[in-house]
Amino acid sequence: MNKAKCDIVNDDCLNFLNKYSGTFDLSFLDPPFNQGKEYNNHDDSMPAEAYWKWMGDVCKTIYKHTSDGGVIYFMQREKNIREVLEVLKNAGWHLENIIIWKKKTSAVPQVKRYGKHYQIIAFAAKGEPRIFNKLKIDPPRLPNEKIERVNGVYVTDLWDDIRELTSGYFAGDEPLRLSNGDRAHLQQAPISLLLRIILSSTKVGDVVFDPFAGTGTTLVVAKQLNRSVIGVEIDPKNVELIEKRLTIQRKSDDILKYRVNYRHTDNLDKIWHVPNGLNTFQKDKQNALQIND
Ligand SMILES: C[S@@+](CC[C@H](N)C(=O)[O-])C[C@H]1O[C@@H](n2cnc3c(N)ncnc32)[C@H](O)[C@@H]1O
Repeated sequence: MNKAKCDIVNDDCLNFLNKYSGTFDLSFLDPPFNQGKEYNNHDDSMPAEAYWKWMGDVCKTIYKHTSDGGVIYFMQREKNIREVLEVLKNAGWHLENIIIWKKKTSAVPQVKRYGKHYQIIAFAAKGEPRIFNKLKIDPPRLPNEKIERVNGVYVTDLWDDIRELTSGYFAGDEPLRLSNGDRAHLQQAPISLLLRIILSSTKVGDVVFDPFAGTGTTLVVAKQLNRSVIGVEIDPKNVELIEKRLTIQRKSDDILKYRVNYRHTDNLDKIWHVPNGLNTFQKDKQNALQIND
């Protein structure tokens, strides 16, 4: 029986963290990047110092609530790497990897520097990581790889096989949309990104935390993997969206389609239970979640 809990809380994340008394095993941070984007309940044009003080406070407070050997994955723009490393170090986190999430769509052109083509995800632990599941994937063979691979390859710190949810043709049907076709949230992270993170760094029954839940991608994935999960989101509209997304699972949110890619992972059945090939959601076959504008 699935005893994992899945809770979404409408609050400011620091406010929540300061009241909370439990612990987390993994936290995923995908905060607003302070680049002047529009948010209903957040100013995305803060003075840089105030922004990084805020990020520092969030990382410190999460650290206090993290179990020994628990981990954090902190996603940011590549140009902020120095600040990210400083903030994590000052909060007590031990850096394990800087993951490069290489985008699939074309690079953002620049005038006097190279085009931007990746985002960073700093992966750090409280002490030594307690869990690290060495995932194996099976990417298509490159033209210079003569011999057919039989056992897959280990996931490294370069992730170039996860498609971002940009607008238009590439986005497919995973982005949540309003009835007029507009995106419900422009920063929705892909299911396959959270799947990799949660599978790598937790076991069944662990507690996952997302202080900037957005559309609830972390919750949707953690729930299917039988991890307990708590998400905090400041915008009540997003909270409503997450609640709907968790109740009616869209086909495009089903993680099972990615399982074949991880089939060579040694302990896959242990870290990813698939009871009778079904998961715990009610299926929405049409992929037609009704979202209010
Ligand atoms: C980059 S988005 C996260 C997207 C998310 N990873 C997803 O997959 O949908 C950041 C989110 O943080 C929320 N937010 C901003 N300030 C917040 C705060 N102080 N506490 C909690 N959530 C906040 C925003 O409303 C926004 O939805």
